[in-house]
Amino acid sequence: MFIVQKIFQDLYVLSWDVALTVVNLLSPKRKIGHVTPAGHPGADGKWPEFVPPKDGDSRCSCPALNAMANHGILPHDGKNIKFTELGSLIRTTYNFAPSFCYFVPNYAANMLNRSYSKDSFDLVDLDLHNGIEHDASLTREDSALVPDQSKPHLPFVKELLSLASGKDAEGNPLLTPKDLSEYSTKRRVDARLSNPNFTLSKFHKMFGSSNSSTMLTIFGGRIKDLEAVLIDERLPDSWESRIVRPMGLTMMTFNKTVLAVEKGINEQKYEAKLKAAAQPETNVPEASSG
Ligand SMILES: *[C@@H]1O[C@H](CO)[C@@H](O)[C@H](O)[C@H]1NC(C)=O
Ligand SMILES: *[C@@H]1O[C@H](CO)[C@@H](O)[C@H](O)[C@H]1NC(C)=O
Ligand SMILES: *[C@@H]1O[C@H](CO)[C@@H](O)[C@H](O)[C@H]1NC(C)=O
Ligand SMILES: *[C@@H]1O[C@H](CO)[C@@H](O)[C@H](O)[C@H]1NC(C)=O
Repeated sequence: MFIVQKIFQDLYVLSWDVALTVVNLLSPKRKIGHVTPAGHPGADGKWPEFVPPKDGDSRCSCPALNAMANHGILPHDGKNIKFTELGSLIRTTYNFAPSFCYFVPNYAANMLNRSYSKDSFDLVDLDLHNGIEHDASLTREDSALVPDQSKPHLPFVKELLSLASGKDAEGNPLLTPKDLSEYSTKRRVDARLSNPNFTLSKFHKMFGSSNSSTMLTIFGGRIKDLEAVLIDERLPDSWESRIVRPMGLTMMTFNKTVLAVEKGINEQKYEAKLKAAAQPETNVPEASSG
């Protein structure tokens, strides 16, 4: 019974998502500078004051949700958040589509065996291992090595941002799908080799590539903005979502970027390179000619 209900709900969300994708294609874009809707935090580029987390505040493995709490868009202590209020706040802050904003808190409630319509959660609850939180993060060490997932591991973030190979019209560095595939490859292999408890299901691989795709879509790959959000978990002054379609980023549109990042991940190739590098000098010419 539960499974039938679940599939039905997913089908409903998917058809809704397809409809929103069509509406997006047919409607005028939002004006640059007015992407965040009037009357909501961030409208006209004015985000509520950034206050770093205090002792006892609840934070999680997700930089985008932590940033919302740090600006008081979610409760600053990160506690007692209703599943039903999360979606609309994600929608106005980041301009994800309503279908996506309904799906994510529902998924989280399900994972925690709580009621979407009645219950609440603290941000840290989202770090249930292999629920939402999973290994090979681009911004955290694996939870078996560092159980507290609330803070970024800066060496990872800095290495990721240093890979930016694109440029915008003004010459500012941009992360590209290829950069994210490259760093995801490295993190998956390194995490597998260094964490005896490493696991990563197909589902969580796609989930991880979805995180990366958020950096490319919502944040447009812009290094300056990503530094603020990934290092300080802060939204820069006058920042707004790079998604200008009125119905926001639908799952269907998002999926294209997710698949591109995921397809570009090649663990075998990276491992072969590691092996070649570990071999004695004399073998190098042979290896590189093959
Ligand atoms: C949710 O319920 C399932 C099935 O009863 C159980 O296996 C799982 O551990 C529960 N999860 C949590 C977070 O309580
Ligand atoms: C994606 O986000 C989840 C939740 O914040 C995190 O546990 C996971 O490691 C991230 N994946 C990647 C590849 O960064
Ligand atoms: C890692 O795996 C070992 C052996 O299976 C287990 O004893 C330990 O509790 C695990 N650690 C974590 C943090 O899951
Ligand atoms: C995303 O793409 C995968 C693989 O093609 C597909 O199975 C899935 O249904 C797609 N999801 C959405 C929301 O379009």
